[in-house]
Amino acid sequence: MIRVLGLSGSPRPDGNTARLLKRCLEGAACRGAAIKTVDLTGLDIAACRHCDGCFEDGRCIIEDDMQELYEEMKQADSIVLATPLQFMAVTAHVKLFMDRCQALWARKHILGLAPLGDENSRRGIFISTGGRKGARIFDGARLSVKALFASLDIQYFGELLYPGIDAEGDIDRHPTALTEAFDMGIRLLD
Ligand SMILES: Cc1cc2nc3c(=O)[nH]c(=O)nc-3n(C[C@H](O)[C@H](O)[C@H](O)COP(=O)(O)O)c2cc1C
Repeated sequence: MIRVLGLSGSPRPDGNTARLLKRCLEGAACRGAAIKTVDLTGLDIAACRHCDGCFEDGRCIIEDDMQELYEEMKQADSIVLATPLQFMAVTAHVKLFMDRCQALWARKHILGLAPLGDENSRRGIFISTGGRKGARIFDGARLSVKALFASLDIQYFGELLYPGIDAEGDIDRHPTALTEAFDMGIRLLD
């Protein structure tokens, strides 16, 4: 059974990115994937302390909800990360999560281990919306997400990025976004 893990980084539980994430996972489920969504905004994830404790054994010393999330990520075959733009970047919740992936980065770059514990080829999708218009508004966040996926040996499989989407539910009025999200979820299982 293919497992797809969705990570939602918006403070709005039924906001634009959450809706896109839901449709994307529904597409994957339609192909038989086991799907799970984790709301990053509801977790207790402390900021990385840069103590380099993870350089010893690849394990983060901070005991909080991130410990369970590391396990969820290891079990997943694909990860779909959804975040709105906030000040042209990922949300604070997503950034906390990303920085704590330093322990997985250390597994790979310091200890020479597979970041997620095995050599499985995982796929990643990046979902975002922003209120401003212009295709380039996602450049900064895209760089961050690409760096994260690369560190975790996750292939950057695709992206769903929609500028000019601001009010909650704006995404429902976009002519193609939710269909594209569903289709991307379907293709994830190809
Ligand atoms: C604190 C904050 C900062 C924001 N900064 C940006 C920004 O820099 N660029 C942008 O295009 N939209 C920005 N927005 C708008 C959101 O990205 C936009 O409303 C998005 O569609 C919200 O998605 P959501 O419903 O999934 O939360 C910001 C919104 C908030 C609340």
